[in-house]
Amino acid sequence: MSTNSQAWGSRVGLILAMAGNAVGLGNFLRFPVQAVQNGGGAFIIPYLICFLLMGIPLLYIEWSTGRFGGKFGNHSTPYILDSMVKGRVLKYIGVFGIFTNVAVAAYYCYIESWTMSYVYHSLAGTFEGMSQSGIAQFFNNYVDISQSSTGIPYEAVVFYILCLLLNTFILSKGLKGIEKVAKIGMPLLILFGVILAVRGLTLGTSGASELFPDANAWDGLNFLWTPQYESILDLKVWMAAAGQIFFTLSVGMGTIQCYAAYMNSKDDIALNAVSAGFMNEFVEVVLGSLIVIPIAAGYLGLDWVLENAGFGMAFQTMPYLFQQWGPVLAAFAGLFWFGLLFFAGITSSLAMGTPWMGFMKDEFNWGQNKGAWSFGLLILVMGLPTVLFFQEGVFDEYDYWAGTVSLVVFAMLETILFSWIFGMKKGWAEITSGADIKVPIIYKFIIKFITPPMLIIIFLGSLFKPLNNDWSGNVSSLFAGNGWTLDNGSIVKTVMHAGIKDKILATTDPVLIQQLQDQMMYLNFARFLLLALFIFISSLVYFAFLKRRREGRATL
Ligand code: ALA
Repeated sequence: MSTNSQAWGSRVGLILAMAGNAVGLGNFLRFPVQAVQNGGGAFIIPYLICFLLMGIPLLYIEWSTGRFGGKFGNHSTPYILDSMVKGRVLKYIGVFGIFTNVAVAAYYCYIESWTMSYVYHSLAGTFEGMSQSGIAQFFNNYVDISQSSTGIPYEAVVFYILCLLLNTFILSKGLKGIEKVAKIGMPLLILFGVILAVRGLTLGTSGASELFPDANAWDGLNFLWTPQYESILDLKVWMAAAGQIFFTLSVGMGTIQCYAAYMNSKDDIALNAVSAGFMNEFVEVVLGSLIVIPIAAGYLGLDWVLENAGFGMAFQTMPYLFQQWGPVLAAFAGLFWFGLLFFAGITSSLAMGTPWMGFMKDEFNWGQNKGAWSFGLLILVMGLPTVLFFQEGVFDEYDYWAGTVSLVVFAMLETILFSWIFGMKKGWAEITSGADIKVPIIYKFIIKFITPPMLIIIFLGSLFKPLNNDWSGNVSSLFAGNGWTLDNGSIVKTVMHAGIKDKILATTDPVLIQQLQDQMMYLNFARFLLLALFIFISSLVYFAFLKRRREGRATL
């Protein structure tokens, strides 16, 4: 019944590719930072509950809708959704499943290109003898392309283009290329991760120095791993945990559906989906928490980590800490760390290319080469602004709208569609058909009654995030008739640039005012590009619909 022109070579290949799609930069860069910023052990319980009540259901929903769509020759969400329920609008909801991938890949490949460059610099010994602030400054110079004092002119642009070329080349080899990279990349990633994790586990107090006499790697681990039950009542922590689950599992993106669409219609989903999901969780929760935080706490102390935890730690701090192991080990550690990040990144960015390629093949019969190179070009157009205007906030703006908001919106819509419109009777049959394990029947209930309301609450919570993220205070205020005060970080206020406008009102310094106005201009430019991308993909979906109608294949 399957009309797939491509297919996965083996079950191991499929699971590794799916795990590679999930295991990404988010596991090593985002998870530890989110955990630290949300109280360490306080984060873990909401995180695990979100995994069980939202993560696994979404994995089942996306794997099964993908395999279902594949039976009808559809490999991207616009027409996968269209094949599930007849209706004109659904394919436009499916636009999210291509849009998000292109927009995320645009900035994601930029981080991936940093890892390539940092492997080079670690091996070339660039960081030898540099002070901690020198290494931090090296990164700042790297992303400030007007400085470009890293040794290679316009290095950020050069590595970005190299990274895109590599991704495009592998994508042009189709699923076989992706499978091969996953089969090499995932074991290497785990090997590198285990070596560094052993270092994190054995460092203890041996890294303490005159400047940081209390440094102790175990403090970092204890902070992450001592559960704090009171966090269960803190909605702020729940929101952060839910956001991490989306990003790390790559749910709400459209990649899982696309990969699953290339399965055989009789293949198992029940076991495959949880295998890939649990592999991601192992890498995230075990390896992700045993490297950056304990090693940084082991040399700089937990207080330093709590104050400085951020995304840049991986690039601004780790190379300095590796230097403490002597030049040879530092080169190896740099290779392992940035190599691990590179494999984590590329197995995810390749996945982001497949929905576009699948769509262009299904609808306009574009071959692998044309599909891959057009994707590369699209990423270049969308991504160069994130490279050139990184410091002006374009990168973060993409991450906010595509890497955070879009995931929640699409996950919410597809879950409602699956559970309530496609219906749980058919849905459950899809999930369990061909199953190699018995799916706990409780998930039928969870997918129908727990996951959709959770997603709706998360969406509304982000839309109307209360002032200072103070949920209990704002709920009391609402019931007392004093209204609900929106935070500048709520979606509603972010749309209006409320935070920047407040800063403009609070200053009389004309230079600062000008800077803030410029910043708004760059953010509007980023939004314009994202909106244009969404409209562009929607138009393609519309043209595909007209074509299908002409050929008598349209459902409505
Ligand atoms: N799931 C991918 C990551 O964690 C996108 O980075």
